[in-house]
Amino acid sequence: MIIKNTANDQSYKIYFNMNLKKYLNDLTKKYYKVALITDENVYKIYKEKINVRGLDILKIKPGEKSKSFTVKNSLDEKLLEKKFNRNSLIIGFGGGVVGDLSGYVAATILRGIDLVHIPTSLIAIVDSSIGGKTGINSKNGKNLIGSFYNPREILINSEFIRTLSSKEIRQGLSEIIKYGVIKNEEIFNILEKSNKFFMKNEKNNIDKIIKKCIKIKIDTVEKDFKENDLRSILNFGHTIGHAIEKNYLYKFSHGDCIGTGMAIESLIAHNFYKLSTKDFKRILKLLDKFELRKVSFNKDDIDNLLDSMEMDKKNKNSLITFSLPTKIGSMMKIKNKHKIEIKRNLIKKIMIKYLNEFKNKEI
Ligand SMILES: NC(=O)c1ccc[n+]([C@@H]2O[C@H](COP(=O)([O-])OP(=O)(O)OC[C@H]3O[C@@H](n4cnc5c(N)ncnc54)[C@H](O)[C@@H]3O)[C@@H](O)[C@H]2O)c1
Ligand SMILES: [Zn+2]
Repeated sequence: MIIKNTANDQSYKIYFNMNLKKYLNDLTKKYYKVALITDENVYKIYKEKINVRGLDILKIKPGEKSKSFTVKNSLDEKLLEKKFNRNSLIIGFGGGVVGDLSGYVAATILRGIDLVHIPTSLIAIVDSSIGGKTGINSKNGKNLIGSFYNPREILINSEFIRTLSSKEIRQGLSEIIKYGVIKNEEIFNILEKSNKFFMKNEKNNIDKIIKKCIKIKIDTVEKDFKENDLRSILNFGHTIGHAIEKNYLYKFSHGDCIGTGMAIESLIAHNFYKLSTKDFKRILKLLDKFELRKVSFNKDDIDNLLDSMEMDKKNKNSLITFSLPTKIGSMMKIKNKHKIEIKRNLIKKIMIKYLNEFKNKEI
């Protein structure tokens, strides 16, 4: 299956479930040189499948710390030493860390060379490999240095999910639930009907859901590449989720934090706007099924969390910006904008209400 993105100057193709070795082999024939960037975990599991003649394999240490200037610079220098030129290709084979880093290397080396993403984590499959955001972290915060840069092609193989830990699957499921809430009730329904472990067993449903998620991300990003307004719907759960991640020094994983973020942001939508009690409860219940409300925060930390939300690059003054659901499958617009600004003291009230009434309670 090929999806073409024609909105930006660079259109790209997405292939589904192709033979990895053959795909890599074909790429090495098309380019002068090809480098595959991966992390040590992914390499260990898939080294046989990526053992292709003519492929330079560059390994990085797994984890968020590799999204750094130091690692990026060492990759740049290695590629230049190997005489990569503008007719060369970089393949990012791994999770979101590998994808963001390889994307940024490809975007900047020799002022930009071709890039292919082969995402292997569920987050990378449904989210980070699509949309053209690449980058590294700064001492001042996550993802603050980077560039918008689309790949030439993306290969989505759902077989990679089989080797993921349940924790990593949960991180991806959090984003999938987000897609259900913001745009597609059918995704939400499938997850409601499935059992907790379906990601390991139900290939047809998995492929169906993955395609739907990717379609939502492409459609949204195509219409608003630089996040003027519509793209912000993808931030549902993230205003609060990011603040929790940052405040607890990235001790909790992203999907776990946005799980709690989606729960509280749904409470905001329910309390101040039109999200019904029924839909609010369905969202909490689904998050609970996949253990996505285990991360919490202390009452004493609420002010610090609100400070982080204000300092978030998307916010200004003492208003905090959110994207909120009006019902499952559809996002709210006020004055024709998806970005909704709410006063800090109102958010504080809701966060306290959440802790008092909804945290860890059976619905
Ligand atoms: N560019 C974007 O639009 C965007 C969107 C969302 C997230 N991100 C970024 O993505 C990163 C998070 O992504 P992630 O969760 O994939 O992180 P990750 O790349 O660290 O992968 C998570 C873990 O899973 C392992 N792994 C990956 N694929 C595997 C497989 N098939 N089998 C076994 N283990 C596997 C990795 O080695 C790692 O230990 C963050 O840095 C985040 O900022 C970017
Ligand atoms: Zn996210």
